[in-house]
Amino acid sequence: MTKTADQKERGDIFQAPFLREMCATASNMYRLGWDERNGGNISYLLREEEVAAYLDLNKVIRTIPLMGVNAVNFDISPLIGKYFIVTGTGKYFKNVEGDPETNLGVVRIAKDGKNIELLWGYKDGGRPTSEFPAHMMSHIARLKVDPENRVVIHSHPTNTLAMNFVHELDEKKFTHTLWEMCTECIVVFPEGVGVLPWMLCGTSEIGEATAKKMEEFRLVVWAMHGIYGAGKSLDETFGLIETVEKAAQIYMLTAHLPRINTIKDADMLKLLELFKVEKYRRDFLDL
Ligand code: 13P
Ligand code: ZN
Repeated sequence: MTKTADQKERGDIFQAPFLREMCATASNMYRLGWDERNGGNISYLLREEEVAAYLDLNKVIRTIPLMGVNAVNFDISPLIGKYFIVTGTGKYFKNVEGDPETNLGVVRIAKDGKNIELLWGYKDGGRPTSEFPAHMMSHIARLKVDPENRVVIHSHPTNTLAMNFVHELDEKKFTHTLWEMCTECIVVFPEGVGVLPWMLCGTSEIGEATAKKMEEFRLVVWAMHGIYGAGKSLDETFGLIETVEKAAQIYMLTAHLPRINTIKDADMLKLLELFKVEKYRRDFLDL
């Protein structure tokens, strides 16, 4: 088949940096044991020109209703016309890298605010993650705080999850314990970690609650389920979750042992000063 001039100008999407990065992130999350089976999901806001470099923006493969586990009704209007690459519902993170076209999709939020338009992917008839409402509402919330925000990641990191069962779920106490576990924690997430109680996943309700927390935190723990992270890039967002998970691992390795030493709050203040972090949750420190 001969290619049209238009097709020739476009690059091979399998080589697109955003696709390669999605694959690498999913593989790393799987490798670290954070995302068993279909656990976890990623959404990455793409610029129109980024997508146009690889896909025909006028070629909609399928129109898919906006859904969580069931039909949802939330206001997605701030994202109308925006493009995302999103992991598919029920898709295994371990398979993303080997078959991105089945496990990922590039979608555009339709003008009616009720559907999404599939431009590429979900080859087996799939659709975006059941956590789409929480992802989209989190994007809306984060974009208000940081216009550069592009990524939302949900994951089930093992030690973070384990910590939920043995540590109080109070935001201040949870954050403070994490800050105490690794020297760099307070510098990496000075705004702390938001915590939601256990809630039904895949619903608009958990989406709304997550987005509300995202107004002040880039990290939100879903008690006894996992964590949400948001950031400017896949690297930044992955790094946030990775840092929480490392701190939670140190906690789980030491929680049952007598604590002889700790990083003091006064030391944390010195770190904030050294790294010139001006905005932090001072009320989460015991000064
Ligand atoms: P999906 O397979 O729909 O992305 O759901 C996985 C998950 O982690 C639900 O919270
Ligand atoms: Zn989950």
